[in-house]
Amino acid sequence: MDVIHSVAELRARLYNERQVALVPTMGNLHDGHIELIQIAKPRAACLVASIFVNRLQFGPTEDFDRYPRTLAADCERLAQAGCNVVFAPDEQEVYPEPQEYTVDPCLIQDVLEGAFRPGHFRGVATVVLKLFNMVQPQIAIFGKKDYQQYLVLRDMVKQLALPIEIIPADTVRAADGLALSSRNTYLNDLERSEAPALYQQLHTMVQALRKGHRNFADLEKAASAALETRGWKVDYIAIRRQLDLMEPDSHARALVVLAAARLGRTRLIDNLEVELI
Ligand code: PAJ
Repeated sequence: MDVIHSVAELRARLYNERQVALVPTMGNLHDGHIELIQIAKPRAACLVASIFVNRLQFGPTEDFDRYPRTLAADCERLAQAGCNVVFAPDEQEVYPEPQEYTVDPCLIQDVLEGAFRPGHFRGVATVVLKLFNMVQPQIAIFGKKDYQQYLVLRDMVKQLALPIEIIPADTVRAADGLALSSRNTYLNDLERSEAPALYQQLHTMVQALRKGHRNFADLEKAASAALETRGWKVDYIAIRRQLDLMEPDSHARALVVLAAARLGRTRLIDNLEVELI
């Protein structure tokens, strides 16, 4: 496996590759990231994972500085998983000058995560477009753990006519239901044992929807109150359309329940899709 830090070296390494799959990450890899590599494997001759903690997608009071950076351990895991190239540029390589040209993902960037993290999806879309231009993959894999991010990037590729196939990956969870996340390392033991409650609330909502409950606002309020009682600070719990994360009408069938909530200093997000019949 080659570990490459510069765009020039990356282009030279990939020059003769005809089927490249890219898995963009911010590192501190866990089994969720490795699952994306496994999904990519049968689809491309050359697997590239990028590792870059992208300052542009963090708000001024967010965790950019303390985000875990574990390059050596990440490279070991990627080599074991059969990755061919790790692209780990530094900030100077990605942003040699202030980034004045950016990608603005229109309506969807103002709801849910976007409403609580202004500018976040602009930062994500901009760096991913840039990584696409650096790596020039035919395929890219994104996790549905970050559901809104997946939709933003899927729509960016479609609307900008990028010749890249976007493949979604299901969320990988711990045995107790907690979605794997690099930010789980911030949790102390007590918080870690409380953390699966987020998934459990989403699961309860999905079961209620399957049983025929259609008062979405009531379901959202009940789940939110249940978490607040347990000491969480809820940013949102929302039942939305899978298509575009807009509010569903009573005929909508393909739904997704999304949540973001804070446990102590740690902000966790999760979601579950549900198809109504
Ligand atoms: P990061 O949080 O490192 O996630 C990298 C990829 O792994 C994303 O596609 C994310 O959805 C996926 N992922 C994370 N946890 C997962 C889980 N438990 N199951 C399945 N997939 C999971 O998302 C980012 O980095 C950045 O925003 C990035 C796209 C790299 C742009 O900077």
